[in-house]
Amino acid sequence: MGIAQGIQTLQSLEDSHDEIRESEVRSYCRKFDATFATAEGTILKDVAGKRYIDFLSGASALNYGHNEPDMVSGLIDYMTAGGIIHGLDLKTEAKQRFIEAFKTKILAPRSLSYRLQFCGPTGTNAVEAALKLARKVTGRSQVVAFTGGFHGMTLGALAATANSHHRMQPFVQLSGVTRAFYDGYFGPDVDTAQMLDKLLSDPSSGFDKPAAIILETVQGEGGLNAASPEWLKSVADLARRHGALLIVDDIQAGCGRTGRFFSFEDAAIEPDLVVLSKSLSGLGLPMSLVLIRPDLDQWTPGEHNGTFRGNNAAFVTAAIAVEKYWSDDTLTRTVRRNARTIRTSLIQMARLIPGARLKGRGMFQGLDLRDGAIADAISRRCFDTGLIIETCGPHDEVLKILAPLTTPDAVLRQGLKTLEAAIVHVTRRLEARS
Ligand SMILES: Cc1ncc(COP(=O)(O)O)c(C=O)c1O
Repeated sequence: MGIAQGIQTLQSLEDSHDEIRESEVRSYCRKFDATFATAEGTILKDVAGKRYIDFLSGASALNYGHNEPDMVSGLIDYMTAGGIIHGLDLKTEAKQRFIEAFKTKILAPRSLSYRLQFCGPTGTNAVEAALKLARKVTGRSQVVAFTGGFHGMTLGALAATANSHHRMQPFVQLSGVTRAFYDGYFGPDVDTAQMLDKLLSDPSSGFDKPAAIILETVQGEGGLNAASPEWLKSVADLARRHGALLIVDDIQAGCGRTGRFFSFEDAAIEPDLVVLSKSLSGLGLPMSLVLIRPDLDQWTPGEHNGTFRGNNAAFVTAAIAVEKYWSDDTLTRTVRRNARTIRTSLIQMARLIPGARLKGRGMFQGLDLRDGAIADAISRRCFDTGLIIETCGPHDEVLKILAPLTTPDAVLRQGLKTLEAAIVHVTRRLEARS
């Protein structure tokens, strides 16, 4: 065996060992099987220097792109100056700066007066906090969650999550959640908000009055199902009439993904509780937040706590994100322009596959191919040709475009072209086989 061959053998042994070491639960890295090294904006590079356009964006944790330069340099300066990194929930300069920025740039212009609860750093932790608080405040135990909803993996949030693959029945006891039908579940002619209202109004429906109704305005994992503003208004109204709190889980749809900072702004509703995470820190650092209507802030000190509620590195970059991108409506206008580009391309692509249809809104759009195997084949072809794009929906049948909001026009168009070419490639192969 020559030296080169020996090195190659060692390398492949190491690769297979890595796979043995990392749990079977790993997922994205199976499909996007490269070792990534560097990233900038919408571009990722692997160790071999291959360039990928990133339409995955850390599942919407990177709305401002990879390594946003002002956030990187702000964080480096902060760390070099000996700034606090871990702070439990102690008062720190970094936290104060974030709170001030969030108050003046996000809440005040929208006439919102929410209190801020910092939670353990993942989205699911903030969902747990919101569900607990709703139960405590209302004295009720049931929560209504919707078909297609995704709210996280810890048990309280998992009970609200609909996907059977994650629910792991019958091994895990999940309780306290009643399932209702999301907008459009039975097609456009059935008003599922009216159905829910009837169930909650009828003392013999068997439906307990809920503590809260939790929803996503666009279901990210559930297949880019976008609720109409009318449906959202009806649900907000019925929640109020039935004494339930409305929780909007804006973990994936928020932070500008649909255009405005909050995804519910277009429907002109004001939820009682809002849950944020993912792109909140701007740089992809872990951070989560529950926004609480002030009179509902009935926690006692430490009642919902967690060691990592004070990720000050995330506060630093989150403050920069808010100050830089949300002082005016430039980003919202960019998202609208990019959303139109995506939509125009998707209409074209939908023509290539019989039955395909557009889903989602803003820069949270995709293509429902009605077939998980085809969507998977297209996603894999994209990866081979330099584009990372994931699938979602009950059968993973929806190709989901999650480009950073700041993606330059030329890169966005290049990514969309790569996607279209992959669709053509896969459909031709399918035609040749039939
Ligand atoms: C809408 C929504 N809620 C909650 C979560 C859970 O967040 P995390 O994975 O950070 O726990 C996610 C994650 O994808 C999400 O999309």
